Amino acid sequence: MSNITGKVIAITGASSGIGEATARLLAERGAQVVVGARRTERLETLVADITSTGGSARFRAVDVTSREDTKGFVDFAKAEFGRVDVLINNAGVMPLSMMGDLKVDDWDRMIDVNIRGVLHGVAAVLPDMQARGNGQVINVASIGAHVVIPTGAVYCATKYAVWAISEGLRQENPNVRVTTISPGVVATELGHDITDASTQELLADLRKKALTPDAIARAVAYAVEQPDDVDVNEVIVRPTVSAF
Ligand SMILES: NC(=O)c1ccc[n+]([C@@H]2O[C@H](COP(=O)([O-])OP(=O)(O)OC[C@H]3O[C@@H](n4cnc5c(N)ncnc54)[C@H](OP(=O)(O)O)[C@@H]3O)[C@@H](O)[C@H]2O)c1
Repeated sequence: MSNITGKVIAITGASSGIGEATARLLAERGAQVVVGARRTERLETLVADITSTGGSARFRAVDVTSREDTKGFVDFAKAEFGRVDVLINNAGVMPLSMMGDLKVDDWDRMIDVNIRGVLHGVAAVLPDMQARGNGQVINVASIGAHVVIPTGAVYCATKYAVWAISEGLRQENPNVRVTTISPGVVATELGHDITDASTQELLADLRKKALTPDAIARAVAYAVEQPDDVDVNEVIVRPTVSAF
């Protein structure tokens, strides 16, 4: 039996892309998954797909920019399955732009979703994990937590922050496993909200050499399935043919 079987795993940002692929894979491997995002019709379809093939899944609407909502999402998972063994803070946005364009609302949104959202998730699960003396938090950062490119200053800053939050959380909590997954370029909906045409083209060009989301799902599964005394702290997964 794998160390995934029977685990209660809550995943934010599971209505598309990496979160959705991760939910499908972990459910297939026997986890009880609770999926959250704002587009509930997509979550409903995902849960129906998983349960129709014998998996165990529930969904709940969550906006991770709200501390109360994120706690409500975790409380829902606990009410449905008794506890949360693993939280995957995956929700993220990437409206890239040059700093000089002063798209400050987009800067705020990235900070609210990518940093505050992760902190809200941590706050919602940490007390129980500390009290139990076990648990795992997986934060989806990015290759942008390791390199910065023009148009990516604020997005990368949020992902550097995710890296730092993970590292501090790990050092302070010897009984909680903490994993940072840093994907390179993956073909998903991320960046659909970029408004500048040349930046859209830059991303489209990068995506010519992209992984599919299941590659990241397998990295997440690898981190979850290790024995409890093994803490996979960081995984970077890039397309072989790409610098990013
Ligand atoms: N694709 C890549 O190349 C790549 C590379 C490195 C890192 N990443 C990271 O991977 C993670 C997943 O992104 P993806 O590539 O799978 O993109 P995606 O397909 O756009 O998925 C992003 C998810 O985040 C959710 N989300 C956005 N704002 C939210 C909010 N306020 N509250 C709750 N959920 C919210 C979206 O759902 P709703 O809109 O339904 O709420 C969606 O499910 C992100 O953290 C991203 O930064 C992606």
